[in-house]
Formats: sequence, structure tokens, C-alpha cells
Amino acid sequence: MSQPDAAVLKEIATLRAELEEANYRYYVLDDPTLTDAEYDRKFQRLKQLEEKYPDQVTPDSPTQRVGAPPAEGFPEVTHAIPMLSLDNAFSRDDIVAFAQRVAERLECEPDDIAFSCEPKLDGAAVSLVYEQGVLVSGATRGDGRTGEGITSNLRTLRSVPLRLRGEKAPSLLEVRGEVIMRHSGFEALNERAREEGSKVFANPRNAAAGSLRQLDPRVTATRPLEFHAYQAARIEPDMNDKTHSALMQRLSDIGFRTSAELSVMHGPSAVVDYCDALGEKRDRLGFDIDGVVIKVDDLRLQRELGFVARAPRWAIAFKFPAQEETTQLNDVEFQVGRTGAITPVARLEPVNVAGVTVSNATLHNADEIARLDVRIGDTVAIRRAGDVIPQVVRVDKDKRPKDAREIEFPRRCPVCDSDVERLEGEAVARCSGGLYCPAQRKEAIKHFAGRRALDIDGLGEKLIDQLVERDWVETPADLFHLSVEQLQTLPRMAKKSSTNLVNALEKAKNTTLPRFIYALGIREVGEATAVNLATHFGTLSALQAADQDALEAVEDVGPVVAAHVHTFFRQEHNQETIEALLKSGVRWEESEVEQGPTPLEGQTWVLTGTLESMTRDDGKARLQALGAKVAGSVSKKTACVVAGEAAGSKLTKAEELDVPVIDEATFLERLKAWEKGEEEDA
Ligand code: IVH
Repeated sequence: MSQPDAAVLKEIATLRAELEEANYRYYVLDDPTLTDAEYDRKFQRLKQLEEKYPDQVTPDSPTQRVGAPPAEGFPEVTHAIPMLSLDNAFSRDDIVAFAQRVAERLECEPDDIAFSCEPKLDGAAVSLVYEQGVLVSGATRGDGRTGEGITSNLRTLRSVPLRLRGEKAPSLLEVRGEVIMRHSGFEALNERAREEGSKVFANPRNAAAGSLRQLDPRVTATRPLEFHAYQAARIEPDMNDKTHSALMQRLSDIGFRTSAELSVMHGPSAVVDYCDALGEKRDRLGFDIDGVVIKVDDLRLQRELGFVARAPRWAIAFKFPAQEETTQLNDVEFQVGRTGAITPVARLEPVNVAGVTVSNATLHNADEIARLDVRIGDTVAIRRAGDVIPQVVRVDKDKRPKDAREIEFPRRCPVCDSDVERLEGEAVARCSGGLYCPAQRKEAIKHFAGRRALDIDGLGEKLIDQLVERDWVETPADLFHLSVEQLQTLPRMAKKSSTNLVNALEKAKNTTLPRFIYALGIREVGEATAVNLATHFGTLSALQAADQDALEAVEDVGPVVAAHVHTFFRQEHNQETIEALLKSGVRWEESEVEQGPTPLEGQTWVLTGTLESMTRDDGKARLQALGAKVAGSVSKKTACVVAGEAAGSKLTKAEELDVPVIDEATFLERLKAWEKGEEEDA
């Protein structure tokens, strides 16, 4: 076997360092530096070199995150220190009583105790062991005493450091934390499973645990899992951290993701405030949490307090209301979406799920109804989390009433009576009526008028329903022929509101190419794809003329999306609608996309808190249009933080790191100036 020369060794080392840095930036800091293409290129190059020189492969090489062959089973791993559970608190009184117990043992006042508070992540607990800074083993919690060795699987998580960062690694470190799946990843995973007919998970916790217990690490590698550290069970030699919060900062410094929500609160009433505030925020985190873990911050006091049975005396879990509840399925209705997709919607006996009344839930499609084996009259488990539409996750068949009715999937569109089609290999059934179907027409027009599309102010859902039902509007182009006189004849449309709408329509005619492409409502073309298409082709006519191959050359456009785009522009009625739109005066600067000013090229921005004048997504899109990257967390390299109302930990972090912070008014001013092409520094 040939031996690598010094230059090759250096190249291998550099590639590894670059790839691990890229992983860290992306998966721990949410602040990517490399593009996917650059990452892939470097990864392929490293793999090639390692194949040529197999002696050079090390366990901490980024290539080792994906390659391990399937296991026969998982070895039993005895935890050096048991992984304990926590006692629960369910009320303010329980928290106060916990603080009181701690204070009595420590012979002090509850108000004098500092508590570190952080989200109780709802995932799968794991433990990672590092020797001389290198990951040597990883295991599940199991029964707390012994777990399963799943090192190869844990290696595939990019947020699990294979080697600790920094100069001096401890000789031994055991880090514990939770592996979670974000709502977005969970939804995508289940959606794919529904399409492929493979296993659908009831919730992100099951999905995380199930993904970790795959015998083939290559399967785990495809699952969107994240490791969040919350404890250091062993460090040798002792680093003398005084507090849990300082220790978490240390873990963050050496490469782990730790909670961005961690705060130290003094006394039980501040802890209760923290729990209330996090409860408010729960739906916006993007992942499941089931409460707050409250820990005595001082590590010396933790040792003094010790343990009882299976739980520490120095910590407690305050539990939020459950995100799953049971109720009765009263009926199923079928809704027709913009692309004709027919979705069964469960009408439920209203039930309060974690503070929100739920009376509808999605049943996705016919396969899902079959999978759940659900009938009208059944008792069903409903899950609601974040922005995700409530779902029926389970049926309690023991409670099925004798008169439970089977759900019949319609063969004709419930709105326009056209045939319902289900293409070979597709899970979704669709109304074949196209724009003949008023439901599809309404949805297409709602989409066209939406904030992210042409943004027609004052054209709400009810009004669109009326316009379509009266046959005044068949295609989006018809909107621009509405007159004040005509609109005034509609119920609840006075002269003023009619004039406003006509003015808003006039204003909306000035748009951008990406918005226009998005507004057309081409299947699977979301905002990001619309931007990519516009950037790539520069003009609408170039896009219209593009063939399948040319479309597939666009960033993030695969064969399926390319085919949708291609078919869309080949359809006569779409061509007519586009022509009519242009004729009625819809316009944009063709050059805007190609040569729009990008004064923020190379800068990373962070948006935090609530913005009054726009959504965060809008702010993000506008920044990106100016060349900036928009990240989810603040680091030294952040160029600027925009702090809206109630900005929290990111603002604090920015202040700590001396990163420039601007308020919303300043942000708007600068955006406008940059968008006009006026030079100014951030
Ligand atoms: S600390 C001595 N912190 O909750 C136990 N646990 O009921 C120290 N969990 O199995 C645990 N988020 O998996 C801690 N921020 C957090 C947590 C957390 C979730 C889980 C953990 C454990 C269970 C305890």
C-alpha cells in the first residue's frame, strides 16, 4: 500500500478540520459557513483520499459519521454513574415546596438559592464518553443503570462532536443530554413515510428514539436528529467549575449545543416566572419540550444535597400540560386544496390540548385512515405542537362504539363533482377539475393575493369566496379588472373599502420576479425555489422557455420540481393567465434579480424578538435578497442583530460579544436605503 506524502497528510488534516468546523457552524451554532456544494466537494475529496490511504482513517474523521456497517444488535453498556430520573412538580406550590425542602437542608432561605432553569427536552436521553477529547462511546439511558451501546449511530449526528474543541481536552468527559427531532424534520420524515408507506411516528420523541435504535447507522444518518447537552456526569481532571450554568458554558465552548433558554433565577418566585414565560414560548421553539428542569446552580450545594432513591434532591422537573389528549371523532369532512389535493379533516368533540381548544385535526389521506383504522365515533388521541396542524395519532379500539361508521373516501370532488384521481404511487387523491373547481380556484387566488406573493392588501378569504362564487374572478388576472362600482354591490363593501381594494390591486402590480413566480402557485415551488428560479434565469421568458434539463440545473431543483415547472408553463390556460396578468400591468424590474444590490454579501445577520412591521420570514427574505445570510444564533462573526419587541437571550448574547444591535426602526430605514441601492455600511 502506498504511503501518503507530507502534502497529502496536510490536505487530509485540513479537509477534516474544515468539514468539522462546517458541521459545528451549521449544527451547533445554526450559522453555516460552507454551502452544501462546497461541503460535498470537500467530503468527497476526503473520502477519496481515505480510500486510497486506509491507514489514515481515524475514528474522529467526518467520513466516519456515515459509514459504519449495520450491527447485529446493540451491546449492553453499564453506566459508570446511573442516569437518574427527576421528581415532578405540577404547580406553583410544588415549586415553592421544592425550594423550601432544599433551603431546609442547606439551612438557608429559599430566596437565597440560585436555580438554573432550562427546558425539559422531550426526546431520548443519551450519554457520550470522551477520552483525551475523542468520542469513544455513546449509549441510551436504558433503565438508568444499563443502556444500549449506540456509538456508531450517535456518531452520525453532526451536533455530536467527534473531537472536543479547544486546546486542552479533559482526559475523561461524560456528557449527557437529549437527542431531539425538530417539528420541521419530524413532519418531513412522516410525510415521506406516508408517501412511501413506511413507518409513521406518533411524535418527535418516538421518532428520535426509533431513529437512534436503527441497526443500520446509515438509516440514522438520514434522520434529522440533534443532540443537546444538559449535564456533565464525569470530568477528569476536575475543571473546578463552580456552577451548573458555568459548566454548561464550558460544554458550549468545547463544541456542544446547550440550551439557549438557560437562565439562572434567584428564589422560587423567579423560577415560577421563568416557567410561565417558557410556557408562553413553548409553541414557538420548533421542538417539543414537556416542562422545565430546575436545578440548584451551585455544584457544591448539589453534592451536599445528594440523592434519594432514583432522583437527585437538587433538581425537579416542572411539567407542562400534555400535548396529547383524547377525544371523540364526530365526523370526517373532505377539503380541496389549491392543487386539488383532497384532505380528510377530522371533526372532533372540542378538547383542550396544552391550552388550545382543538376541534379539527388532519387525517392526511386515505392511507393514513387505513393505517390508523379509524372510524367515526372512535375515541382518538390528538397531538398538537407548535405550528404543526393537530393530528390524529392513535385510536383506542377498546372504546369503539358498536355503531362506529367506516370512513368513505369520496370518488367525486365534494365541491365541483369532478372525478377524484389518485395517481399510481401517490398517496394523495386529487380533484381532477383544475381551475374549473371553485375550491381550487379560491385557493389559487388566495395564494396569489397572499402576503408572500403579490401581497394584495384587503383581499381576504371571505371576499375571495364571494368573487369566485359570483364568477367575477376565474383566474388571478381577473382581479385587476374589478371596479369600485362592481365591488360596492357586494355585502359589507362600502365605497371606501372598494376604493381601497382597487388601489391595493394597482399597487400590487409592482412586484418582483420571485414573488410573481411564487404567486403562480406552481406545485412544489415555494418561496425559496421561486428565488432560485428567478436568480438562475433572470427573466420570465427564459424561465418559460427552459426545458427539463435546464430546470434541473437550478439550485435545489430536482426532477420532480423541474417536471412540475415544465408542465405548468406548457399548459395553455397558464400561458393565457400569465399573458393576461402582464397585459393588465403586472410588472417587475427584470434586472432586479440579476443585478440587484447585494451590499450585505458575506455578512451574517440575526433577527430576534417580534417585529411590528413585518414577519421574521419577510425580514429574512429581504436580508437574503441583499446578500446576507440569516442565522438562528449569535456568534462573534454575526454582523448585526435586529432586536424586535421582547428580544431575549440572543440580544444578551449580542451584547456580551459586542455585536452591533439595531432596533426595528433603524432596520427598516437601512433596508429601504439598501434596496434602493444607496451605499451605507452595516
Ligand atoms: S438533568 C439527575 N436536564 O428528563 C438527572 N434532564 O426525568 C439530571 N431531560 O431522563 C437530568 N431535558 O432525559 C436534565 N434539561 C434537562 C433535561 C433533562 C430533558 C430528561 C432526561 C431525564 C429526564 C428526567
